[in-house]
Amino acid sequence: MSGLMDRAFGSEADAAEVKDSTALLEQQAVMYQAMLAEHEATIRETQAVVRAREATVREREAVVREREAEISALRAGRDAPGRITPPSGGDLGDCIRAVLPQLDGWCTLRKALWLAELVSNMSGTRIGEIGVYGGKSLIPMALAARNRPGAMVYAIEPWSNSVAVEQATSAENDQWWREVDLYRIKLGFVSAIMDCGLTGMVKLIELPSDEARRAFHAMQGYRFDLLHVDGSHAEGQALADVKNWLPLVAPGGILVLDDIGWDSVMKARDYLRENCDVISEIVEENDVSYGAYRTRPVPALAAQPEAWAAALSEVLA
Ligand SMILES: C[S@@+](CC[C@H](N)C(=O)[O-])C[C@H]1O[C@@H](n2cnc3c(N)ncnc32)[C@H](O)[C@@H]1O
Repeated sequence: MSGLMDRAFGSEADAAEVKDSTALLEQQAVMYQAMLAEHEATIRETQAVVRAREATVREREAVVREREAEISALRAGRDAPGRITPPSGGDLGDCIRAVLPQLDGWCTLRKALWLAELVSNMSGTRIGEIGVYGGKSLIPMALAARNRPGAMVYAIEPWSNSVAVEQATSAENDQWWREVDLYRIKLGFVSAIMDCGLTGMVKLIELPSDEARRAFHAMQGYRFDLLHVDGSHAEGQALADVKNWLPLVAPGGILVLDDIGWDSVMKARDYLRENCDVISEIVEENDVSYGAYRTRPVPALAAQPEAWAAALSEVLA
């Protein structure tokens, strides 16, 4: 009997235990389901975030592709500037007349022919230009010199917007120089030099004039036979270009100054009038003006001791 009771009580106890653990398991199942639902919600949220980010990435990739297409279109345009076609026959004047309208810049036909004549009539071979832009004034000079053995034309030009506005002129002028695509202008110039067969004689000095001058000073004794100054038209820089480069022009050589009628170039022109002999000063229509000035022979040392003392102290400083 007691054994039966024990078994009976034992099975009741087991049943209660089973019931408890079932209830516990049910509680845990509810809890896990709640956790699962929570995780599923988090996964759905994360998936939505991932989808949104994927859409953003696709949008940005489309923008990048668009920009890449724009850049390669620009590069293609820049790498292929319009070809210059010099005439196969004709004289120098015909060649300049044909080439000039195809070049970027400001040099008029009259000035281009005048520069070419100065070069044709000069005795030396060393030519330079400060402020080249698209070569509209340099290329006529180089064409005029190309049959002269040993002729060399230095193109001194930084093609830099920041250098172009380093010294202020007028607000409108400075704004134009801030925005012009000087890289495109430079490629046009280089391409024109190739098309005109001038690569052997034109040397690019891609520096602001002050830095280029230091390089030329270092070439002990180098002197230009003709130097065209057409860089910055700001008063200070125009005067500095004339003052600092004049000693680099050979005695009896020519310095050409552009825009001598501009107020900001007046001091530079006056300096040349005082220190050189005027060859000619030309005023065209539409505010175009330029002059050519011949450097004087250097007087003997005994004749100008003060100038020599000043020059010596500058060298020694
Ligand atoms: C008026 S444009 C030259 C025009 C060109 N000679 C022609 O006849 O078409 C002046 C040029 O001087 C350059 N320039 C400006 N500041 C300069 C500087 N400090 N040194 C050298 N070149 C400079 C500009 O980049 C610009 O191309």
